[in-house]
Amino acid sequence: MQRVETIDQLRRVRGRLEGTVGFVPTLGFLHKGHLALMRRALDECDHLIVSVFVNPTQFGPGEDLEDYPRDLEGDAAKCRDVGCEILFTPERDHIYADNHCSWVEVKGLTDGLCGARRPGHFRGVATIVTKLFNVVDPDVAVFGRKDYQQLAVIRKLVCDLNFDIEIIGVDTVREDDGLATSSRNRYLDDQQRCQATSLAEGLVAAQRAYQQNPDQSVAELLDVARERIEGQPHTEIDYLECVHPVTLQRLDEAVPVGEDGAVIATAVFLGDARLIDNLRVDQPLPEGPLRRL
Ligand code: PAF
Repeated sequence: MQRVETIDQLRRVRGRLEGTVGFVPTLGFLHKGHLALMRRALDECDHLIVSVFVNPTQFGPGEDLEDYPRDLEGDAAKCRDVGCEILFTPERDHIYADNHCSWVEVKGLTDGLCGARRPGHFRGVATIVTKLFNVVDPDVAVFGRKDYQQLAVIRKLVCDLNFDIEIIGVDTVREDDGLATSSRNRYLDDQQRCQATSLAEGLVAAQRAYQQNPDQSVAELLDVARERIEGQPHTEIDYLECVHPVTLQRLDEAVPVGEDGAVIATAVFLGDARLIDNLRVDQPLPEGPLRRL
């Protein structure tokens, strides 16, 4: 595996690759969720490129940019073990010059959910992903469904900006008790870690409620999820919403979920961590930990 830090180096080594290239962009501090994305990219393509870059423009004031966990050596070892050929680890100044003033904004899809609570976040994500796509020039890029809104935003920008890149979404990888894997789980102490299971429990409870009676209102489903999440002390819901799976428009809470189905998405503060998770209520639970809840 080659580790490169500059765009010129990356373009040079990428240019030498023959066959298809899969790409997994990351913020680093890699865990089994990232490894699943990398394996999927390797299933689809001849080569794998991974980037590790803690992108400052997607963090808002007061967020955890400086504290975001970093472990470049550990990340490099994991990438090597999985079969990554090029690891791109640029410095901040190399990606954003002092006079950087071009931004990518995806309107509409970013109005609600995390977009509403983290102003500028998706502008930062869309901009860095566009920049990375331009320099990596992948055939396929793989993202996790845990960041449901991010995946929708990236699909839209690829379509709108005519990137010839296939975007693949991979199911959320979970711990045995259902908690979605995330680099931010490390902010949880032991007690909070136990309480964090309530996100998955709440979503699964709402999914089961829907499966038992699809005619109940969206508000009733949200109540089921809210009761579980708030049943744990110290959890503070940032948002809990039921949205259309493609447009991400909020569904009318007074009526049942429509025929297109729905995603319940949530963000919850627990101590220093802000955790996100989501689940399609109109689909069977994925194999794995959620079925045991
Ligand atoms: O999901 C992430 O890790 C980041 O938002 C991404 C896509 C790497 C952009 O910085």
